[in-house]
Amino acid sequence: MTDYSNKVAFVTGAASGIGYALCQSLLAKGAKVMMADVDEAGLTEAIAKLGGASDTLSSVVCDVRNAGSVKAAADHTLEIFGKIHIVMNNAGVALAGQSGRTDLNDWQWIVDINLMGVVYGVEIFTPLIKAHGEGGHILNTASMAGHMTTEYMPPYHATKYAVVGYSESIAQDLIKHNIRVTCLCPTWVKSNIASSGRGRPSAQTKTTKPVEMVKAAQSSVAALVANGMDADRMAELTLAMMAEGRMHVFNDPEARPAIDIRAKTLAEDYDAALAWMKAN
Ligand SMILES: NC(=O)c1ccc[n+]([C@@H]2O[C@H](COP(=O)([O-])OP(=O)(O)OC[C@H]3O[C@@H](n4cnc5c(N)ncnc54)[C@H](O)[C@@H]3O)[C@@H](O)[C@H]2O)c1
Repeated sequence: MTDYSNKVAFVTGAASGIGYALCQSLLAKGAKVMMADVDEAGLTEAIAKLGGASDTLSSVVCDVRNAGSVKAAADHTLEIFGKIHIVMNNAGVALAGQSGRTDLNDWQWIVDINLMGVVYGVEIFTPLIKAHGEGGHILNTASMAGHMTTEYMPPYHATKYAVVGYSESIAQDLIKHNIRVTCLCPTWVKSNIASSGRGRPSAQTKTTKPVEMVKAAQSSVAALVANGMDADRMAELTLAMMAEGRMHVFNDPEARPAIDIRAKTLAEDYDAALAWMKAN
């Protein structure tokens, strides 16, 4: 989608960080924007910061963990704006942890938001984009954590790798319907993501306490996010890459070597198996 003017965009996780900045950039480019978030107070504040609800800006409370809530938000968007061209499945949370020591309810929580939230957005909105025949664009927010791993965040990496694979798969089919798919894969961006773990089930029941190493990882993530790219710049870069029809959007020169390192490791493992098969 090269021209955003008069296109209707639905954005989740819109009350804060990258989602908010995407809404701001879309509005500046002439799009009509429906901001969706589970945080009602944050949404009200965000709408006010953008000048208040208008013919081109509206909001809806939506919990992406719940397919019914996403469907209701889609119906509301159609009622307000008539059609939908751009869907940004951006809402997400972070969770640090170690294997064998992560509360299973926390696992379910992050999968429900980071993966199923994206799936519901794609499944519910794709037929609505196809229906008007004007084409469209789906942006799924993954992360650089969907292309490289650290030892402290297995659930986050699992959900983000899943979103990358899911996005690459659906892109092959949806292009036939003039719907592009882009996967946003940032490294650090200034936002409130570092405090999102407070919403995890174990934080409510206080049944588990993070071990020292995980606590250290959490505070180092908080510092990296605080020093990350400005969300406004991330949003501008994202819309530019979407306009180019890019599959992935990256943002960090320092993380670039990780792509080559992974490709090299995969090739070496592949070749080792081929060599064994040849010899046996
Ligand atoms: N900030 C970074 O460094 C970074 C890096 C890579 C990827 N990401 C990804 O970017 C996306 C946006 O995060 P952010 O960094 O702007 O964080 P953020 O915490 O500032 O914003 C996330 C928004 O998602 C909303 N949200 C959380 N659970 C929700 C739910 N169940 N339903 C609807 N909305 C919900 C929150 O209320 C919040 O407004 C996430 O998917 C995150 O994983 C962020």
